[in-house]
Amino acid sequence: MGVALIHGRVYADDPANLNGWRILDDGAVFMEGGAIYQVDHTAHLLPGLSNVDTVVDVEGRAIVPGFVDCHTHIPFAAWRLDEYLARLSGTSYEALTREKGGIVRSSRQWAAASDSAIIAMARGLVEEAMRWGTTTMEMKSGYGLTVDQELRALRLIKQLASTLPLDVVATGLFLHAIPPDFGSDQWVDAVVNNLLPMAIHEGLLDAVDAFVETTAFTPDQVRRFLEAVPLPIIRRLHTNQFSSIGGIVAAATVGARAVDHLEHLTPQEIDLMVQSRMAGVVMPTASFYANRHHYAPLRELINRGVRVALATDLNPGTSPVGNLPTVMAVAVNLCDITPEEALAAVTRHAAYVLGKEEQIGSLAVGQRANVVVLDTESVGMIPYRLGHNPVYRVWIGGRELMAG
Ligand code: NIG
Ligand code: FE
Repeated sequence: MGVALIHGRVYADDPANLNGWRILDDGAVFMEGGAIYQVDHTAHLLPGLSNVDTVVDVEGRAIVPGFVDCHTHIPFAAWRLDEYLARLSGTSYEALTREKGGIVRSSRQWAAASDSAIIAMARGLVEEAMRWGTTTMEMKSGYGLTVDQELRALRLIKQLASTLPLDVVATGLFLHAIPPDFGSDQWVDAVVNNLLPMAIHEGLLDAVDAFVETTAFTPDQVRRFLEAVPLPIIRRLHTNQFSSIGGIVAAATVGARAVDHLEHLTPQEIDLMVQSRMAGVVMPTASFYANRHHYAPLRELINRGVRVALATDLNPGTSPVGNLPTVMAVAVNLCDITPEEALAAVTRHAAYVLGKEEQIGSLAVGQRANVVVLDTESVGMIPYRLGHNPVYRVWIGGRELMAG
């Protein structure tokens, strides 16, 4: 029984190097019962393979862990092309936010859309991402901006998760923008006293998130929210995207697992990330589209030993990009990291951010059989051929994703 991939170039984790790989030339991966059962040289694996269902000779291609997109804003109801075009003519993302475009506009589109329309849109985006190698996806609420609509978002995520082949992690991004009908403190009260307990009671949350920014919430407000969140729910923050106003200190104080965005970090904040061992999530396509090409200090964070994940941030405002190879290409070409570091950032480090590094993100015995075969022998081809889909075949939980 099971599936054996043979004659590949296997990228296994290097236990001695946070961002490195132990490459097995002429390697093989054997999956059975939804899990990885054996990773070895083909010559060692072959003798035991007499009763295997399927043997796939990948002819020297790279076999890598399935990609993990640890930060998306799926589901949303509509694109915001007109805002993108306005930004091309000089209007800033922050100015659009102040003019009640941006997230508040998405919340109006969200409230007007039917469940089936939202599910159909999300499903199309997820199917596209899977064809580009995404095998686990984090999804967030955040465009509801009322208690009922935020709960609806989390329920729709659950519905999507139950009908999609990939693994889904649900995050409640309850402090995303100041709702039009609330003061910001009043909304924090509603979140802490009503929304959060209801979402927990319904079992809808794996993680929570909040946005610290001059146009969103203060460090004190997010601290009040995150302190109300019980373990083991993971705490994360959107912070330092456009300015540095204390989000990193707030995150460290509440034991956040990761801080996301990080375009505007002070040296003291980088020190604090190192000391508190918080992971960083960097989304270079958001910097590319909405931050005037101001990128997070990826090279420095990695040099300082910070665990860094890369993610798409897929959303209609700052990052309409839904696939991780493109994100890797932007990171390598514009942020001075290597293709191998980029691969670690979309696999094991992204799994760590979701608290799932034992289950996904590595080609290791016992992990879920989420496996991608590239159409090349080297991950260097991913940033080299920007715009090309480098994914040849994908297995999720040991089952092959069929093209279409
Ligand atoms: O990650 N910064 C806040 N939230 C999103 C943007 C959401 C939107 O514009 O719709 C982000 O960039
Ligand atoms: Fe985001």
